[in-house]
Amino acid sequence: MEGVREIRRGTLQEQTFYEQVGGEETFRRLVHRFYEGVAEDPLLRPMYPEEDLGPAEERLTLFLIQYWGGPTTYSDNRGHPRLRMRHAPFTVDRAAHDAWLKHMRVAVEELGLSEEHEQTLWNYLTYAAASMVNAPG
Ligand code: HEM
Repeated sequence: MEGVREIRRGTLQEQTFYEQVGGEETFRRLVHRFYEGVAEDPLLRPMYPEEDLGPAEERLTLFLIQYWGGPTTYSDNRGHPRLRMRHAPFTVDRAAHDAWLKHMRVAVEELGLSEEHEQTLWNYLTYAAASMVNAPG
């Protein structure tokens, strides 16, 4: 049965989305591929304040792991996500939004998830990206 795991006869425990799609390794692959795209992107790359994209990659990975039901290491280290506030220093306009999603799309597709899992993940990412836009144009 998709999404549930039998613990004992009569007791079913739901698996988190995080577990269903393969846990930490899947999210590491996703965000690593995404940042390969960012590293080559003439609009996005200059927005990242640090020379090394590694720490930013780690923060997004841990955030997504936490969001989808995995360990809460992100908030243990960074506190409440407050993502809109954390993006306020950056100009997230339509072009930045589109570039972000373009790299994410490639990364999501390369995961090779089931259609249903891919759709769930993609719906969230597009919704979240739209909510991060903070500048006209
Ligand atoms: C829409 C286009 C977006 C752009 C241009 C953008 C850009 C950025 C930039 C420049 C940073 C700073 C890098 C760092 O120091 O970590 C950042 C951080 C971050 N972004 Fe985005 N972002 C976008 C959308 C999103 C979305 C949709 C999410 C979540 C699904 C997200 C999650 C994060 C997280 C978790 C951090 C690190 C926050 C922290 O703990 O400091 N971003 N983003």
